[in-house]
Amino acid sequence: MAEPRFPNLIVLDHPLIQHKLTILRDRETSTRDFKQLVSEIAVLMAYEATKDLATQPVEIETPLERMTGRQVSGKKLTLVPILRAGLGMVEGIAHLIPSARVGHIGLYRDHDTLKPVDYYFKIPAAELERDFYVLDPMLATGGSGVAAVSTLKGAGARRIRFLSIVAAPEGVRRMLDAHPDVPIYTAALDRQLNDVGYILPGLGDAGDRLFGTRHQ
Ligand code: PRP
Ligand code: URA
Repeated sequence: MAEPRFPNLIVLDHPLIQHKLTILRDRETSTRDFKQLVSEIAVLMAYEATKDLATQPVEIETPLERMTGRQVSGKKLTLVPILRAGLGMVEGIAHLIPSARVGHIGLYRDHDTLKPVDYYFKIPAAELERDFYVLDPMLATGGSGVAAVSTLKGAGARRIRFLSIVAAPEGVRRMLDAHPDVPIYTAALDRQLNDVGYILPGLGDAGDRLFGTRHQ
């Protein structure tokens, strides 16, 4: 679903995504279920975000006769989770697309300044012609997303998409201003940020809920 305010945003309102997102948001959801749901939502989002992948004809033989099937062609994909919370989105998508490579960007948001602090960057060598899918469940102020995409572009990546599970208008706007060429796929465009940069209604701290590092 296109969002009139944001030409860079695609909200994925598939009933299964919305159902799972509602459980994900619930404060009573356990760490174990949270992890499982992030993975499942990421797979459903990847299914939608890859629907324009090019395919090419390929000849095969079924047990009965020859036929022309179709296979994904051209450039392969690189998944780039933003650490930590983006890690929760990798495994399911990698299972769906086994040829995908995985790079990592380490960023955390300073609690006082809300500015991203980078601590790690590693993407597969000589893979810059690939399509890059940046993964992070939360797009809040957009500081981390903008920094991650800038770093990827600095390393030569050109075709980049951003998959977030919950996005705030402030973050989507900031991405649009900094990287208008990067489509953002999200399961929800929430209302706003609170005064400490958390998304409302949101789901809390995605990294903490995913890894059980703090009681909700
Ligand atoms: C969270 C989230 C994003 C970032 C979003 O990570 O996973 O990376 O905040 O906020 P922003 O849009 O305002 O930059 P966090 O910094 O909490 O790190 P963590 O995943 O290691 O917990
Ligand atoms: N990071 C999170 O994990 N949650 C928010 O609501 C904002 C940033």
